Amino acid sequence: MEKIFTPFKLKNIEIRNRICVPPMVTRFSEPDTGIVELGTIEHYRKIAKGLPGLIIQEATCVNINGRLMDRQLGIWNDAQIKGLKKIVDTVHAEGCAIFVQLHHAGVVGINEQPLCPSKYSYALPDGNIRIGKEMTLAEIQEIQTDFVEAGVRAFKAGYDGIELHGCHEYLICQFFNKKVNTRNDDYGKYPEKFAMEILKSICERTSPDFVIGIRLGGFEPTLKDAIQNAVKLEQGGIDFIDVSYGFSKEQEAFVPANYSFIDIIYAAEMIKKSVHIPVFAANGIISPEMAEDILIKTEVDMVDIGRGFIVNSNWMKDAIEKKDTGKCLHCKMCKLFVEPDKCPGKIVFEKNKK
Ligand SMILES: Cc1cc2nc3c(=O)[nH]c(=O)nc-3n(C[C@H](O)[C@H](O)[C@H](O)COP(=O)(O)O)c2cc1C
Repeated sequence: MEKIFTPFKLKNIEIRNRICVPPMVTRFSEPDTGIVELGTIEHYRKIAKGLPGLIIQEATCVNINGRLMDRQLGIWNDAQIKGLKKIVDTVHAEGCAIFVQLHHAGVVGINEQPLCPSKYSYALPDGNIRIGKEMTLAEIQEIQTDFVEAGVRAFKAGYDGIELHGCHEYLICQFFNKKVNTRNDDYGKYPEKFAMEILKSICERTSPDFVIGIRLGGFEPTLKDAIQNAVKLEQGGIDFIDVSYGFSKEQEAFVPANYSFIDIIYAAEMIKKSVHIPVFAANGIISPEMAEDILIKTEVDMVDIGRGFIVNSNWMKDAIEKKDTGKCLHCKMCKLFVEPDKCPGKIVFEKNKK
């Protein structure tokens, strides 16, 4: 194996290898303040010690009313910067780069009157329906300002960059997906407009070295739409694209027969072929060998190892030392969302280590 161990430069940020720990919410903020708790800092210290090249901190909310859960980390006011800076300093002390993912849940959030680009009925996992309220132009501007102010706070806290959360059904993704965004104005006609304006303003308010990327849906609703979005974002100055699933309830995923990997890795490969900026691939990458294979065959620049690092926070250190890295067992409902200590993959890994 060669490529996963090679360093990588994103703008002026030195990344020590090709492994990125993607954003994963840990529910470690103080309830309702969004302020970082000690547990959060220790969580990121442990992961940084496991030698990934880059960590993208979990979805961190830009507006208290856009939260996904009440203990979600926040970046909506200046009082939150101090705690965030502690995460940054802790991760940097381990030689690891760190970005933060900026998030607004839109219709998927806990707010009882959630915002959405258009009126939209969202079916919750428990069968209840949540109706998203179509945003006025003033609301669009307000939320864009929240993203921009959050980007400036991230810059002040010392992050190497940010990732706009533009997939997994959240607000930016809702704008991108034309089955969800049925507006008649320019924000509907040009689904990328909402994100592009945020990108432009954050660029203007931070330094040229500050990295601004996006996690983008690979099928939004089709791969063709995703590629168009990626190309436009590149023209708008985005620095990298991290490809994951888009608005899953409204997507048309596609993979050719006999392709070596899953559909979303195919989407990352096709997006990489269409742009000149770094692209990250994610989802279900379970071993260093598989990570290497994807890097070589698809020519993406980085691969995301998410649950692998939760099962074994030393994942990359163990890969370097050619030890067992452990395996996510892909439980039907991931335990990490509710009972992280009961993650079966982690239990098996720790038992085998003894
Ligand atoms: C507990 C948990 C929390 C997650 N939180 C986020 C998040 O905050 N933002 C995001 O973009 N993806 C989130 N994800 C998705 C992961 O970033 C990643 O894309 C997914 O787990 C697939 O990668 P993996 O197979 O390597 O785990 C989360 C996944 C899990 C399991």
